[in-house]
Amino acid sequence: MIKFDFNTMVDSFIDKDNFNSLMSRKDEVYSKFNEAYMTGWTKPIEVEELNEILRVRDEVLEHSECLVVIGIGGSFLGSYAVEKMLSPYFNNYNFEVIYAGTTLSSKYMNELLDYLRDKDFSINVISKSGTTMETTITYKLLKGLLEEKYSGEDLVRRIIVTTDKVKGSLRQEVNEMGYPSFSIPDDVGGRYSIMTAAHLFPLSFNIELEDFLNGYYSGEDLREDAFRYAATRVALYNSGKVVENYVTYEENMYYFTEWLKQLYGESEGKEGVGIFPVSTVHTRDLHSLGQFIQEGNKIIFETFMKVENSDEVIYNGKNLHEVNNIVLDSVRSAHKLGEVPSLEISLERVDEATIGQLMYFYMLGAAFSGFLFNIDPFNQPGVEVYKKEVRENLGVL
Ligand code: PA5
Repeated sequence: MIKFDFNTMVDSFIDKDNFNSLMSRKDEVYSKFNEAYMTGWTKPIEVEELNEILRVRDEVLEHSECLVVIGIGGSFLGSYAVEKMLSPYFNNYNFEVIYAGTTLSSKYMNELLDYLRDKDFSINVISKSGTTMETTITYKLLKGLLEEKYSGEDLVRRIIVTTDKVKGSLRQEVNEMGYPSFSIPDDVGGRYSIMTAAHLFPLSFNIELEDFLNGYYSGEDLREDAFRYAATRVALYNSGKVVENYVTYEENMYYFTEWLKQLYGESEGKEGVGIFPVSTVHTRDLHSLGQFIQEGNKIIFETFMKVENSDEVIYNGKNLHEVNNIVLDSVRSAHKLGEVPSLEISLERVDEATIGQLMYFYMLGAAFSGFLFNIDPFNQPGVEVYKKEVRENLGVL
């Protein structure tokens, strides 16, 4: 269960009339959302698709000791964030899943190739467009290693491709080679694709999908909260708070804040508007960025994610998790004194169902915020500019 506090430490920082006029745009925003094509992520995933994910997973488990997932941006962050949040900190893999494709570091690549040389492995290359440079380079290098080690059917079954249903060079390769494959639906963009095979297949190796799925779709019940979140953050922006800091007190939620940064940064940063998303992990970052937040430029507001229940560790007669949350409350009060307003989202605990619901909530919030900013929250023309420039300078990869 998720609870929200969007006003206690916000109200004195926003213009009430502006907030009310944003709230009064609800019907307009909902109808834009309901009419938008790119909302395939609100539709239930088909049972056949889910069964296919589990079938291919079982095959991989039979012949491989490790899976390398290759993708970047929306074809990477969701599953990586969920895997990090829901896996134990130590001895954390039932089955080893390595995420690659997010760096051009040759040192990393060399060590990865060395590490895989003596392992029985498979790869899952994920790219909706099939043209992303980092993904292509990593894919071709790892495919080269697979081709040295395996041939025939044994090679084919180790290359699992997730891409557009019909378009792109990866789909063409699937058609020619017969690789196992999944599709990313046309009406789902990268950063909204958590409930597609792009993320569910990698997650299926170590995460209980059923609870995650049920939690995700129950996020629809939070539509009103997501709209209020969107209106609050846009009202804060209109009061000069143009940076949103996502704050977590759980180390394992760091990549969740990275996912949020992509979701909000790519969804609303266009046409000269948008809130710049940043994140801090506390209490670590209180000893670095905390100074700036407390006393620096007054452009920041914060969204704290509070976890109500966690493991019990007793220190000096006190529950360590309660200590963590008392620090969170104190920091919100201190930051308010420093003119930094904050919102709070409380999670009952970090588990599959809660995280699924939270992701859906944030995706609704990103879409609604985009419509309140009068921009299209589902495109990313700026990312395309850089990709095109790289393609022109590098040539065919
Ligand atoms: O959200 C997005 O659309 C982007 O971040 C893409 O996911 C990212 O650029 C990777 O694109 P692709 O899946 O086409 O390789």
